[in-house]
Amino acid sequence: MKKISQKEFQNRRKNLFSNMEENSILIVSGEEEKVRNNDVNYEFRQSSDFWYLTGIEEPEALLILIKKDSEKYILFTQEKKVEEEVWTGYKIGVEKAKSFYLADLAYNTNQLDKLSELLFSCEKIYYNLGSSKKLDDLIFTGLDNFKRIKSRTGIPNPLIIDPSILIDSMRLIKTHDEIEVIKNAIDLTEKGFIEAFKYSAPGKYEYEVQQIMEMEFRLGGSKRNGYPSIVASGKNSCILHYIENDQKLTKDTLILIDAGSEWDYYSADITRTWPVSGKFTSEQTDIYELVLEANTKAIEECKVGNSINDPHIKALTILVEGLKHLKILDKSTDEIIEEKLYFPFYMHSTSHWLGLDVHDSGKYKDRDENFTEFQEGMVLTIEPGLYFGDMAQKISKKYKDIGIRIEDDILITKSGPKNLSEKIPKSIKELENFY
Ligand code: GLY
Ligand code: MN
Ligand code: MN
Repeated sequence: MKKISQKEFQNRRKNLFSNMEENSILIVSGEEEKVRNNDVNYEFRQSSDFWYLTGIEEPEALLILIKKDSEKYILFTQEKKVEEEVWTGYKIGVEKAKSFYLADLAYNTNQLDKLSELLFSCEKIYYNLGSSKKLDDLIFTGLDNFKRIKSRTGIPNPLIIDPSILIDSMRLIKTHDEIEVIKNAIDLTEKGFIEAFKYSAPGKYEYEVQQIMEMEFRLGGSKRNGYPSIVASGKNSCILHYIENDQKLTKDTLILIDAGSEWDYYSADITRTWPVSGKFTSEQTDIYELVLEANTKAIEECKVGNSINDPHIKALTILVEGLKHLKILDKSTDEIIEEKLYFPFYMHSTSHWLGLDVHDSGKYKDRDENFTEFQEGMVLTIEPGLYFGDMAQKISKKYKDIGIRIEDDILITKSGPKNLSEKIPKSIKELENFY
């Protein structure tokens, strides 16, 4: 199955260089190890921006791009020491940083003084202040020194600019290879969902269904999930980020799973809701059909010429009209939307960008509230839902404890929306057929 090649990482850096201003330096830091307890760390995952530009998984690595007269790619990675590698595994080291990861120059992370020299030779520094305590300190110390000699040089401080101004818009438009990799994550997620559909039954526990599903992710080669799986049965389905996953499935309730495997750092993000006993009750059917209509009609809005707000408005209008039809809300559709009276039943948005992060980088609107227009290569979720949990029950006891969300992953193409998760069953008939 496809993974991102070093050639593609190199192209990304080339594009980034072309968007950087002359006489500038860009720093992106890798993630640091985080202590879980005592001497045990959390499982390491590289920061998404760092991965996007390097494909390097090592903690504490640094990427530096300098655009001044020429373009230079510099890497700082951990020092290779056999005495340490015997405990923690092989490090990249300066040689491989150049030969395999294509850096023009490479240093060990204990040579950060090299970075201080480089930093203040440029007029602009692209750096996300706050992203690394070590780098923040280095920059502030450098600024102090710089100020001290200003009376003699007259040179103003370098301008510090958030690099996400350049990187986010690159990450928002996916390349051919990125789309292939995302499809792999979705295909593995599909396999997991199919096993979850088959396994779920009254008496099973949420965590059992989770394990059965995630086993398919792992057997397919996915190292980890894009985010913690939500396996929510009964009224737990009304809690948006329920991750306890420790309750027993009971007869005639629904189970909602929101999960995505990660493949080569890219995440899927899928939700399906289905009946534990194999048959939707008539109350569950009312709500399911409504959410399904919102999902399918919102997907149709994912086309060039529309903005990210269009599928949301479509889904919201369908859900609101449905709630009126079911006699749960009774004002006009415009009033319900204007006054947000739908909020107790539908409190999240319909979409987000999807990629290296499940809630991926990229603007949704500008400072003047203009929503981002769709362009070919964008990938987003469509995930309407209705929840009759505690907030809803203050208004109506009807449909008590039913929570339904249906989430698909959509690619924007010139010829319209491509539902990358369309093979995962979602009609009532398909879901009931698993029993
Ligand atoms: N799983 C998080 C989300 O659907 O946005
Ligand atoms: Mn989502
Ligand atoms: Mn989700």
